[in-house]
Amino acid sequence: MRIITFETSDALAVQCADIFAELLRSAGAPVLGLATGASPVPTYKELIRRYKAGEISFRNATTFNLDEYCELPKNDKNSYFSFMHEQLFDHVDIKEENVHILNGNAPDLKAEAQSYEARIRSAGGIDLQLLGIGTNGHIGFNEPDNKFTKETFVVELAQSTVKSNSIYFTDGAMPKHAITMGIGTIMAARKIVLIATGRSKAAAIRKTVLGDVTPACPASILQFHPDVTLLLDEAAASQI
Ligand code: PGA
Repeated sequence: MRIITFETSDALAVQCADIFAELLRSAGAPVLGLATGASPVPTYKELIRRYKAGEISFRNATTFNLDEYCELPKNDKNSYFSFMHEQLFDHVDIKEENVHILNGNAPDLKAEAQSYEARIRSAGGIDLQLLGIGTNGHIGFNEPDNKFTKETFVVELAQSTVKSNSIYFTDGAMPKHAITMGIGTIMAARKIVLIATGRSKAAAIRKTVLGDVTPACPASILQFHPDVTLLLDEAAASQI
């Protein structure tokens, strides 16, 4: 695990955007695994800035998002479909047909999960997976459990996740289920970058880096991945 600490979230975002830019500039068709939540927003802003400055292009890129809520219309302001379009896709030259976001309203969610895995495989696998981390150590929506998950599946969200994310659901109840890449899907990415900022993430980062590898802290599995970089601010790194 490579760990880099930054004084500001802007400096962190520049470094994260550098990692994306290197891949986007390489020949071929990069496959990006993307994340939602507050953590990646400064990185997406920096990527948009670089796209507008003519430094990078997404025209050959394919993207797969980590997760999506169930029981929430695709165009709801809190869906991850809406989030990704507002925060990144609407501002860059990504081709809509190359954007993959799980359909949390699919009539057969199991079939949706299997088709997502098949789409990732047929794209050649994920080159670079961006992750945030929950205060409970979740990655994607893989909540603490007694076993590591494998492929994309439907999950009941943990109480702590509902509490953290309810702040966004000002005019209605937050969904209690989501569909998410599994730990196996995430671990199959060739390169992983995890972003964490703020003191609320410090304990989860300590367990991820220094704790046992256990499904009680899903992010701890990253200790077994050959190419993981943690980009942290000083508050998130304060317990390691
Ligand atoms: P956050 O969420 O970036 O909004 O803190 C991260 C996560 O829960 O995975």
